Amino acid sequence: MIPAVRGTRDILPGEIARWQFVESTAREVFELYGYAELRTPIIEREELFAKGTGETTDIVQKEMYVFTDKGGERITLRPEATPSIVRAYVEHSLEQAMAVPKVYVIGPMFRYERPQKGRYRQFHQLDVEVFGVKDPSIDAEIIDLAATLVARLGIENAETVINSVGCSACRPRFSDALVAALGEDLSRLCADCQRRAATNPLRIFDCKVPADQPIIDRLPHTVDYLCDECRAHFEAVQRHLALYGIPYRVSHRLVRGLDYYTRTTFEILGTNLGAQNALLGGGRYDGLMKDLGGPDRVGIGFAAGLERLVLALPETAGRQVGPPDVFVTAIGEPARDVAFQLVRELRQAAIRADIDYEGRSVRAQMKRADRLAAPLVVIIGDEELSRGQVRVKDMRSGDQVDVARTEIVAFLRGRAAAANK
Ligand code: HAM
Repeated sequence: MIPAVRGTRDILPGEIARWQFVESTAREVFELYGYAELRTPIIEREELFAKGTGETTDIVQKEMYVFTDKGGERITLRPEATPSIVRAYVEHSLEQAMAVPKVYVIGPMFRYERPQKGRYRQFHQLDVEVFGVKDPSIDAEIIDLAATLVARLGIENAETVINSVGCSACRPRFSDALVAALGEDLSRLCADCQRRAATNPLRIFDCKVPADQPIIDRLPHTVDYLCDECRAHFEAVQRHLALYGIPYRVSHRLVRGLDYYTRTTFEILGTNLGAQNALLGGGRYDGLMKDLGGPDRVGIGFAAGLERLVLALPETAGRQVGPPDVFVTAIGEPARDVAFQLVRELRQAAIRADIDYEGRSVRAQMKRADRLAAPLVVIIGDEELSRGQVRVKDMRSGDQVDVARTEIVAFLRGRAAAANK
């Protein structure tokens, strides 16, 4: 057998209920907060992410699936949704079309990362974005939305972490201070950090190499270098979070691995996820739309990893597809035709019905009904048919009753409704 591609996984019928529970809860919560669904293509032009996600990011440098199509176009399987959503927003002038510029996307993303628990090469995101709102109240509302989603899913002990990474006015000052503070220590950091110091010093805070940590712990914090507007913005975000009663921790190391962030960044961390503990992450990106050639509009949003939300769900979450309401068995050929007709009639009447397709013995049919845990079995035999009746057996009590063929759908509808109460 040809195996699945490394880092991808099949979502099996046994686990699908948990996925559907996360997706339907997310849609409910997003719509409650006024977000409309948008679906963008899985393939985009390579330059959308080079420009959007950023040339210096790991995603663009190491992780994108890129190929040249038959027309010579450089195509990328999207590694994230934010640049695609910004593109679609501008391309379709959604600013004019939508009363509220709030959208969400659900779908697969692709990154060539080293696969491990909670990290895949094809994974799925729930991504929420809002455009054109500068006021810090929206930052707090987005964080509230994220925390509400996690709470509605029944995920306990999640922690909300926030930070501010400043803007194009104050960030260069902070980057200089960072490199100055490193001084001689720079040569003792890992090769990745040395590269980061030259391209995007802020990213040094992402380093996970244990030997580097004592040096990184001594570095200055972004929040101490914010310009007046960025500082006021960050304080207002925190005031609004307090207003909503949302607990959070400020972490100066939360700089996020994508280039477009300005001011607020945040993540919600789970507890049982191992090294990949971010359930979701996001932040403000006030320059992205303009950088991509659109109007000068700010934006903020977040994306949650569906795999990680599913992993973090309580054991009992999600409804499994239950047994059929009725299993229909037939004895003999004419009875089989009636049985197939009846199964169809039952399904048309919204009663979940099943049947044995192979024309096996009555015993084999009853065994199958038992295996499916059907509470009721209809038995159609020549004798009952000649009387215009079918027999209904209650599998729990063993009781049997004969019901007129013309009455059977109504009879079973009543029984199924009573059982599903
Ligand atoms: P991100 O932090 O790269 O941000 O990804 C967001 C979430 O996607 C992560 O917290 C994680 O749950 C999930 N995720 C990322 N990579 C993988 C992977 N390889 N396997 C499984 N799950 C993964 C973004 O993508 C930004 N676009 C978020 C955003 C939206 N910022 C503003 N708006």
